[in-house]
Amino acid sequence: MNQNPKNELSAYNFEEHWNKAYQKTPTTSLGWYEENPTPSLELIEACNLPNDAVIFNAGAGSTSLINRLLEKGYNNIIVNDISETALEILKNDLTIDKASNVQFIIDDLTNSTALLKLKNIDLWHDRAVLHFFTENYQQEAYFKLINKVIKLNGYIILAQFNLKGAVKCCGLDIRNYNEEMLQKGLGENFKLLKSFDYTYTQPSENTREYVYTLFKRIH
Ligand SMILES: C[S@@+](CC[C@H](N)C(=O)[O-])C[C@H]1O[C@@H](n2cnc3c(N)ncnc32)[C@H](O)[C@@H]1O
Repeated sequence: MNQNPKNELSAYNFEEHWNKAYQKTPTTSLGWYEENPTPSLELIEACNLPNDAVIFNAGAGSTSLINRLLEKGYNNIIVNDISETALEILKNDLTIDKASNVQFIIDDLTNSTALLKLKNIDLWHDRAVLHFFTENYQQEAYFKLINKVIKLNGYIILAQFNLKGAVKCCGLDIRNYNEEMLQKGLGENFKLLKSFDYTYTQPSENTREYVYTLFKRIH
């Protein structure tokens, strides 16, 4: 793709920003750490997918979700992040004998190379990643990628800061969402199946307001 306009934002080194964030703070103290990613797991279970379904976690960071999915028997998981440091931490935290069920892809969701080769994804999961894409070209690239790689009847879970939520995270500006804005971004190929607001409590005991959505590809 490599079509980033030459503006101030594209010159910012997001890869370095995120690598530093993961080097500086242990996983369990990160402002987005979840010991139990319950809302994500409930939505994933609601999709009723077979164990070998291809589950793609966009901007996975060092999430505990992957271990929970492996424990539930899912065995065809792809994790992605722009930060190599984050994926190293995730890899080291995996249950050893299940590591072969997970593929790791370091790539930028807004300017992809390796991710463009993916196809037939059954489920795309993104918690707290899309909302960092504040520029139109980033959002367009992200939604174009989803449309390219997700299969017909596949599912999308998007969980982002909602309209009552914080306006910054990890020192970066974010864009707040509601379900209509997420539907607009995905386009008419996708149907909203479920949506709810959720208050997440950070390790610091502060709270962050999210909107969780589940979509299905219908065209
Ligand atoms: C707030 S963290 C959320 C991590 C994880 N989804 C979770 O819920 O624990 C945002 C993540 O998005 C990743 N990220 C940011 N921009 C990205 C991009 N352009 N492409 C891929 N990953 C990105 C960061 O490295 C970070 O791991």
